[in-house]
Amino acid sequence: MKKGMDEKCSLPLHQPAADAARWRQKPRKSRALRFLALGCLGFIAFAQWKQLSLSRAPAPNHDATVHGLSAQRLQDNLATCNALQKKPRDPIGAGRERNARFIDGHAPTLITNATVWVGEPAAGTPPEAARKGVGFHWIKADVYVEHGLVKKLEPSIARSAVAADTLVFNAHGRPLTAGIIDMHSHAGVGSLPALWGNDDTNEMASDITPYVRSIDGLQPNDPQIHVIKSGGVTTSLVLPGSANNMGGEAYVFKHAVGKPDGRNETSAADMLADPDRNWRFMKMACGENPKRVYGKPGKAGPTSRLGESWEFRKAFEAATKLVREQDDWCDAAASSGVHSMKSYLPQELRWESLGALLRGQVHLNTHCYTIPDLEAFIGHTNEFKFKIRAFHHAHQTYLVPEILKRAYGGDPPASAIFADNMWYKEEAYTASEYAGKILYDNGLTPIFVSDNPVLNAQHVLFEAAKGYKYGLPYHAALAAVTTGPAERLGFGERLGKIKPGFDADIVVWDSDPLSVGAAPVQVWIDGTAQFDDPVELKKPRVELIVPDESLSKIPEGPVWMDEVVFTGVATVLLKSEVKDVASKNTVVLSKGKVTCIGACEAELQAASKTNTPIINLNNGYLTESFTAFGSKIGLNAIDAEDDTDNGPSGTSFTRAEDGLALDTKKTNVAHSYGVTKAISAPKLNHGNTHHGTSVGFFTGAKSALSKNAIFASDAAVHYTLDTSAKSPSTSAAISNLRHKLLTAATTNATDPYSETAHLHAVLNGSLPLVLTVHSADTIATILKVKSAVESATSSTLRLVLLGAAEAHLLATELAAARVGVVLAPLLSYATTWDQRRALTGAPLTNGTGVDVLLDAGVVVGVGLEEDWLVRDLGLLAGWVWANGEGRVGEKEALSLPAWPPPYYGRGQYSISPTTTAYNRQPPKSSRTTMPIISAPSTGKGGNLW
Ligand SMILES: *[C@@H]1O[C@H](CO)[C@@H](O)[C@H](O)[C@H]1NC(C)=O
Ligand SMILES: *[C@@H]1O[C@H](CO)[C@@H](O)[C@H](O)[C@H]1NC(C)=O
Ligand SMILES: *[C@@H]1O[C@H](CO)[C@@H](O)[C@H](O)[C@H]1NC(C)=O
Ligand SMILES: *[C@@H]1O[C@H](CO)[C@@H](O)[C@H](O)[C@H]1NC(C)=O
Ligand SMILES: *[C@@H]1O[C@H](CO)[C@@H](O)[C@H](O)[C@H]1NC(C)=O
Repeated sequence: MKKGMDEKCSLPLHQPAADAARWRQKPRKSRALRFLALGCLGFIAFAQWKQLSLSRAPAPNHDATVHGLSAQRLQDNLATCNALQKKPRDPIGAGRERNARFIDGHAPTLITNATVWVGEPAAGTPPEAARKGVGFHWIKADVYVEHGLVKKLEPSIARSAVAADTLVFNAHGRPLTAGIIDMHSHAGVGSLPALWGNDDTNEMASDITPYVRSIDGLQPNDPQIHVIKSGGVTTSLVLPGSANNMGGEAYVFKHAVGKPDGRNETSAADMLADPDRNWRFMKMACGENPKRVYGKPGKAGPTSRLGESWEFRKAFEAATKLVREQDDWCDAAASSGVHSMKSYLPQELRWESLGALLRGQVHLNTHCYTIPDLEAFIGHTNEFKFKIRAFHHAHQTYLVPEILKRAYGGDPPASAIFADNMWYKEEAYTASEYAGKILYDNGLTPIFVSDNPVLNAQHVLFEAAKGYKYGLPYHAALAAVTTGPAERLGFGERLGKIKPGFDADIVVWDSDPLSVGAAPVQVWIDGTAQFDDPVELKKPRVELIVPDESLSKIPEGPVWMDEVVFTGVATVLLKSEVKDVASKNTVVLSKGKVTCIGACEAELQAASKTNTPIINLNNGYLTESFTAFGSKIGLNAIDAEDDTDNGPSGTSFTRAEDGLALDTKKTNVAHSYGVTKAISAPKLNHGNTHHGTSVGFFTGAKSALSKNAIFASDAAVHYTLDTSAKSPSTSAAISNLRHKLLTAATTNATDPYSETAHLHAVLNGSLPLVLTVHSADTIATILKVKSAVESATSSTLRLVLLGAAEAHLLATELAAARVGVVLAPLLSYATTWDQRRALTGAPLTNGTGVDVLLDAGVVVGVGLEEDWLVRDLGLLAGWVWANGEGRVGEKEALSLPAWPPPYYGRGQYSISPTTTAYNRQPPKSSRTTMPIISAPSTGKGGNLW
């Protein structure tokens, strides 16, 4: 702490502005002298306690100038002038003897036999070719790190050529990259699991708070900081939240915390990526959030985007005025001598950081989704002459590259985006999964971010993998989480590459970093290994992805065909194949049924005569289609817009079929990604809760009256028992459920659509009971309720748990009670208290919940926690497969996002398959063009109902 305190007393830019404080309050002399006596330490303690800046003591009289001012303070002001006029430059990389973050006593490390992604093209590659990916290669090399820096990158480094105490790590040929950089995180200020007491993301006292600092709320003990690092993320920009038009100062931190990670102490200052603080960082936000938060009765506004622009301009004007007054003072002091000045340097803590932005000392990152937000903000940059490094949540930037290029300073901002998270509010509705590719093709810079905890930053690299899948070139996808953010943060010479002179932030991966499920086997920060005993998944050695840009075209929508012949089929993963043939090159489908697999010569001949389409899949895959289970697909279009939403049912027991709304972006995207069926239940209150009966429907149906639109009018009975569903307590919610089940057994239902009628179906085993729950404690209680109800009513409940982050703790008991589990999300990251014991996977934990459940023999499915995940269902299945150490086969994994949900006895059901065909680039890359064909389903969807 001491270091931080000293800095606060001496660092010019953070100087508690003496004169600024004077206008706020004029301390009486005796009071001021008391503060002098207490000294700097007392000042800091008080200022931190009350967030007040107080005047330093007036100078003793003998120090006075002819104008009665303190000569010493005028000298200090002059020094401040120099600091104000400082133009930061990106800190140097090469040329350093040691990393400023290096702690003495750490031994050098030699990583041998690595396959290295340097992060830049081979020397001499022309820039235009490099932009297309020419000159980027994985190279075989050894890496030597010392004093927190990469010192050598050579084909082979002899043990004798390095210091005697060097630690050696054999990478066994695995891929090695620079540490991942997440340019938008709230880790540490919004600790997980989220609790009121640990949420310091937004200072909501006012819409304009450029003066607050995320470092003041950073909690180094947030467990999420380690979870994120276990995904190879070594550096994050921790921003204040986006409630405010001007949110405050942000900081770039590394994910090494305290002595166990090789640091001096557990302190936010010790986590700063650049201890010299060359650049400062700031967060602003436009659009829906500020008007929603401040446009309410009792708040001062803004209530519209119009008001937001005024709030911005008013604040920039105030800071501009301060900057001009300071410059005038500094010029006058320089030309006529500081002792002739009749006043002190004008300073005002409120506008100090914004002044620094106008002086070009701050890297600005602004959250703006829509065209009007982007255009207005670019206008502000030109009106007040400041630069912007990146727009965040920049979901519509792909539509307006030219607007970005109008930004002040001739340096268009990057677009910090998610790969495919959208639809959660109106401004996130017009997003495209191809945004990264389109931006890149327009000469702009896409960067993938987590907005942790919105996405789990542990898997921010998966966003880049999806960016690649959606057409961004391979090297640009990797750059989007390494060199891209490094450059935008002013760390272009230090972070993001494996080159001598760069910080030794390094990850060795268990597979290609852009493949599904890639996990680090070790992570180094400033040359120090971060995991003492990392869990390493047993994975078959997989070749690195060889990018195939022919697969980067934006595919057209799905095509429905009655008859089709696929050639070039590499893999068939259908539940029931016609027969096991050696060659599966050709597959013939007729009216939704596979009629031939193999050479199929007769069919091919017949097809060419009848003009049946023959489609070469070039290493294609055929799979069953998927089912989206547990989402709100079919019940809303935009999560936060009530008009588009079926709404919360509260404790009314309703049927989703009665609220079904089709032909939305959600249903259409689901359909075009091979998720041809969905089973959705009304929500109890928020988006991840369920109450009532779910409806099973075909996502391609245009209305509830379309032929075969609905395959299950009442698919299951749902209740919610998570933390949001206390009514009024968890014990009350459990009592209510037990009471309903027991009394239903002895109550006649007059209305066949009523809760009682559906509970009869639960009690006679014809409908599953699906309970949304995460906590292992609540799950334990549910198992007791199940057995109490079963023995009182002589029934057998088909119980399914949905959510189930902590189900792995009771895996054996769940298997014994024959309870199925649908994980939603598949990979919980303990966002809420009742998920806090979730397993986050290698290298921190030995597998995740799905692995433990499968080992115990529990029947498991993959559900959706949020609707945008519908594009990713196949990839999530791939994750279970890739990281499952052989627990499930590829075909079995693909059946996880499927219906029926995994209650026992499912073997008796079947649904006629809708087949989905993919172009897929072997081996196992995440890039597929999804899907090119959905053959029509036939009949009423089998004999399920
Ligand atoms: C770590 O602590 C030692 C001993 O207190 C100190 O000399 C050194 O400067 C510190 N290093 C860093 C990088 O903070
Ligand atoms: C590097 O590792 C690979 C995989 O284990 C191995 O086949 C190869 O022989 C190793 N190369 C060297 C130089 O040790
Ligand atoms: C339910 O209906 C049956 C048949 O009509 C009748 O015999 C029984 O008494 C009723 N039970 C109750 C609890 O009303
Ligand atoms: C179960 O109960 C439901 C609702 O009362 C009824 O419609 C259905 O026929 C019953 N099924 C069986 C197998 O008893
Ligand atoms: C992980 O768990 C599996 C299954 O229980 C076990 O076989 C394996 O030894 C464990 N691995 C480690 C590294 O603990």
